[in-house]
Formats: sequence, C-alpha cells, structure tokens
Amino acid sequence: MESCAPRVQGQTFAEYLHGQERKTLLRFIACGSVDDGKSTLIGRLLYECQTLFDDQLAALAADSRRHGTQGAALDFALLLDGLSAEREQGITIDVAYRQFATDKRRFIVADAPGHEQYTRNMVTGASTADCAVILVDARKGVLTQTRRHSYLASLVGIRSVALVVNKMDLVAHAEPAFRAIDEEYRAFATTLGLDGVTCIPVSALEGDNVRVHSERMPWYTGPTLLEYLETVATPEESRQLAPFRLPVQWVNRPALDFRGFAGTVLSGSVRPGDRVRVLPSGHTTAVSRIVTADGDLDVAVAGQAVTLTLADEIDISRGDVIAQADAPAGVADQFQATVVWMGAEPMLRGRSYLMRIGCKWVTATIAPLKYRIDVSSLEHVAATKLELNEIGVCAIELDQAVAFDPYDENREMGAFILVDRITNHTVGAGMLHFALRRSQNVHWQQLDVDKQARASLKHQRPAVLWLTGLSGAGKSTISNLVERELHRLGRHTYVLDGDNVRHGLNKDLGFTDADRVENIRRVAEVARLMVDAGLIVIVSFISPFRSERQMARGLFAAGEFLEVHVDAPLAVVEERDPKGLYRKARAGELQNFTGIDAPYEPPVAPELRLDTAVTTPAQAAAAVLELLELNGVLGP
Ligand code: ADX
Repeated sequence: MESCAPRVQGQTFAEYLHGQERKTLLRFIACGSVDDGKSTLIGRLLYECQTLFDDQLAALAADSRRHGTQGAALDFALLLDGLSAEREQGITIDVAYRQFATDKRRFIVADAPGHEQYTRNMVTGASTADCAVILVDARKGVLTQTRRHSYLASLVGIRSVALVVNKMDLVAHAEPAFRAIDEEYRAFATTLGLDGVTCIPVSALEGDNVRVHSERMPWYTGPTLLEYLETVATPEESRQLAPFRLPVQWVNRPALDFRGFAGTVLSGSVRPGDRVRVLPSGHTTAVSRIVTADGDLDVAVAGQAVTLTLADEIDISRGDVIAQADAPAGVADQFQATVVWMGAEPMLRGRSYLMRIGCKWVTATIAPLKYRIDVSSLEHVAATKLELNEIGVCAIELDQAVAFDPYDENREMGAFILVDRITNHTVGAGMLHFALRRSQNVHWQQLDVDKQARASLKHQRPAVLWLTGLSGAGKSTISNLVERELHRLGRHTYVLDGDNVRHGLNKDLGFTDADRVENIRRVAEVARLMVDAGLIVIVSFISPFRSERQMARGLFAAGEFLEVHVDAPLAVVEERDPKGLYRKARAGELQNFTGIDAPYEPPVAPELRLDTAVTTPAQAAAAVLELLELNGVLGP
C-alpha cells in the first residue's frame, strides 16, 4: 500500500505527518490597515508558502476555474481575489485566523482590523499571539495607528515585533527612507518595553524580502519576513521554565479511593513526589501520580492535560490552582488591573461583573478608575467610566480571593474576562498587574451576638423590601404606609429613601450612571447592615439599573430580598410631577432625568409589581404587606 501512496517532497505520508507534528507553532498578529497593504502581505505569505488550508484552497480552486486556469498553478492575483471580500469593504470586520506552514514552522496569523473602533478585535487577536507583524507604508512612515498597534501589542504581553516597511517599490527601494523609519520606530518601541524589534523593508505586492532576499535592496542584510518568522523565539521555552501551575478544571472521582484533579499544565513541569501548594487555601502536599488515558507519566510539562493525585486529603475545588510549593502564585482579592472595554454599555465604577480568571468565576466590582489611556497619544486621562474600545487602569475588588500571577510574568495566570451578569456577554478583558494589599490587614470580626440573636429579640424575621420605579411612581408614599402598618404591628423597621440618603451619606453623588451605581452600592450595603441588625428595611430608590438591583439581591440570603416594582406609565408620573422635576427636565433645565434622558430598566421578575396608575396607595400598601406575610416576615 505504501508504495502507491502519494509522496510530498519525496516523503511518505507518515513521514510527512511526523515532520508536521515536530514543527513548532508560531502565532502572530498582523497589524495595519488595508492602505498599508496588510491583505496583500498576508496573501503573499500564503502564496509563498503554498500550504493553503481547505477553505482557502476551495475558494482559490473556484476562482481558477472561473478564470479558466487549471490545477495547481495559482496566480498571486487570484489569491488576492480570494481575500477580496474584505478588500471591497475596505476594512476587515472581525479577527480572521489563517494558517500556513514552511518546512520549519507552522503559523497561525490573526488578522485584526486596524481602525480605532476595532481595538477590541485587535486585543482579542493579539492576546494569544507570540509576536506582532506591524505594517507601515514606506511613504508615510510611523503613524498614530502604528503607535497604537504597538501599544496594544505590548499591552497584551507581546515582546517581539517585526516592523514591515511595505511598498518599498514606491520609494524606489531607497535605503534612507527605510533607515529613517527604522530609527524613529526603535526609539518609540523602547518606551513601550518592546525590546525585540526587527525592521524589514518589503514589497508585499512584488514579493521583495518576504521569502527571498530582494536583489533590488542589496543594502539590506537582515532577515526576510519569513526568515524572521521561522526563527523568532516562541514563548514556549520560558513557559516550560516558569514555576509549575495547574488550574483545576474538574475534580475527578470515578471510585471512592481515587480523587484526581484534572487540568492543563499552564507553565512549568511536575513529577510524582514534587511538593505542591494548593491555592487559595495554601495547603501543601506532594504529587502522588500523574494520570492520563494512556497510563501514568513520570513528568507532565506545560501544555499537557493530566490528572494529578495528591498524597494528602485536601479540600480542593474547581478553579483552585495547584502550584509549585516553593514558588507559589499570589493570592489576593484586590488588584490593580488594565481593562480593555468590549461592551456596548460603558464600564462603570462601582458596578459588579462576573469575572473569569483561570477556571474560576468570581464577582468583581470596579473600584474607582485611576485613568483611561488615550490609545492614540498614550496619555493618561481622568475618567469615571470606560466606553467601548477604551482602555483604563483601575482597582478591582473580588468577592473572594483567587490565585494569580502578574500578567507580565504569566499571561494565562494574570488574564481575566468580565461578563455582564444580566446579558452574559463578555464585556471586558483585562490583565492583573499586582495585588492591592489594603484588605489583607482587615479581617472579618466574628461577633457573638449574630443576626438571628438580634432578630429573635425583636420577634421578627429581618428582610429588605426593595422598591424600584420612576420618580413620582409612588415609592415614598407606599413605603410610608407600609412602615406605619408594620410599626402598628410592633415590627422594628427603617425606611431608606433616595431623597433622604442623598442629603447625608450620599450627598457627594449626582445623577450620572456612575454616581447612581455607587448610590445603589452604598444603600445596598447599608440595608445589609440593617438586616444584620434584625430590622425590616424598606429601600425606596429609583435604582434604575438591573445590574445593581441584582448585585443588591446577591448580598442577602434567599427569601430575604423582596423586589417590588412600583410601576406607572411615564405619561402618568409626568402628569403627577409632585416635585415639578419632569417639567424642568422637559424644559432642559435638569439633565440625566430618569425616564426623560436617563434610562430605567424595569425588573424582569420582581417579587411584586404594582401598577399605581390603577391601584390606590392603600391597596398597594396592602399588597406589599401580603407579600411580607407570604414570605413569613410577619411571623406566625
Ligand atoms: S437613583 O437613580 O440613584 O436610585 P434616587 O432614588 O437616589 O435615584 O434619587 C431620586 C430622587 O432624586 C428623585 O426622587 C428626585 O426627587 C431627585 N432627582 C434629582 N435629579 C434627578 C435626576 N436627574 N433623575 C432622577 N431623580 C432626580
């Protein structure tokens, strides 16, 4: 059978496959715009390597049939046609990944659009790249976007950059034009910590210095682009040398006497007998076995998926990290981090998001933003929020401690994503820089008299009634009636009213989205303290955002938080206008007024909805009391 098998470059298929497996893999990102010739350059690389993958081959075959060309004689122009969709649009919308190979290496190139409104796409593409190829037009040199691309590459931890000075044919292949760009770029790159810069004069259209050295530029003695890509160091080696880390993906317990911890080794290596530390708990033990489907291993290295068994019975759950005992990762619940915002809604100070770090999901709250980075000028700008594609540095607080390494030291251990808790969309990506030590010296004080003790003295079950709705919907009126009735029944209560709290605790806050988020965060925490004190708390705040109401709900035990939507059509509350504020807002004298030029997100599944356009305040209060009764708050 072997003899009739086709041969590739004189190799059998088996030899060929073996060779392919041994090739190293380089992932890189190509940055630049269509004007710089990026599509042409990528097309040229694919063409020079002639190792096109199925979809590209199919497209090209269809093209050659249409053009009457036959077989393997692929014309470079046709290849460009195959990539034409994005050329017609003028820009590439998403990150496209293409693969090709030479004898020495396999390559995956992330092709991300270069415009500022696609910063998030570029960051996505670059986050898995080992090196960046940044294009400039020889006639234009280093532009704002070149600086932006370089900054984003450095931000996600790329250290090796090839600056491709393209369209050398349009500057008569002249050395001075190239040298000037080379010099200017190196000086800039140093400021970003990009130490591995190689500048290459190229004509992507004509192929000069892409694979073979150009005879038209004999003055250039450095590597061609493919030579560079074939030899640039991959981070693989440093990953193998870094301390051992394995985030536990799942706990494997097929039999009573077997407890294994499965995951992929992120960095370093491990052998049976090695001492390890489990984080965040900090317990130490030794590795007993390294189990795989193909039998036990003597050593597991970065990139391998294995199951470890440990010498001692330690409580370990999904998301914990098993680390080298004498070089463990850090553990913290507050960080300084850089965040790239990818959500359509802005990132707000004080808002909490779901955060995935390693294999763990936690709740993260954005503490004040330190600054936003202007990605064009690289200046630091004061900001209270981040819009789509903006990048900022902020403090992040988690609801529990996690194991981490600074992103600069270990990309996988220091990267995270933020997910909106309502929509479940990924809205941000970030890099942890260092732990903030503040909370480490503040410990929760266990007190002997607890919530239950306080509540039982009052003969009641504490709870929070959360009234949300537009200004003028009737929240204050209803809270007042409900509190009067509870008081009459001998219950211990407190009303937290938006207007009142804004006179004291929250008098530093206004009505921007960010201030409202902080307003609700504070009142939710105060309500929690009051519930802990054993009170029945009535919160009467517009609380326009679902996200913060959900955050508030999360602070309480099941059944303790009762959300009441005090609802009425805008036309009705505007007609009531008890404080004359709607009139002012319509007249443009009051900005950010809820329902007029600021949003209100109605609850999807409140415990109770009251339509105050049709119910009287007394009926509404009675319905709220019934809700309390049903939930056992009024007691036996
Ligand atoms: S919230 O949106 O942050 O929850 P909160 O309930 O504290 O609002 O305060 C709302 C009260 O502030 C309203 O009842 C109204 O009297 C007053 N107010 C003043 N300016 C505004 C505004 N721009 N939007 C809404 N309410 C405002």
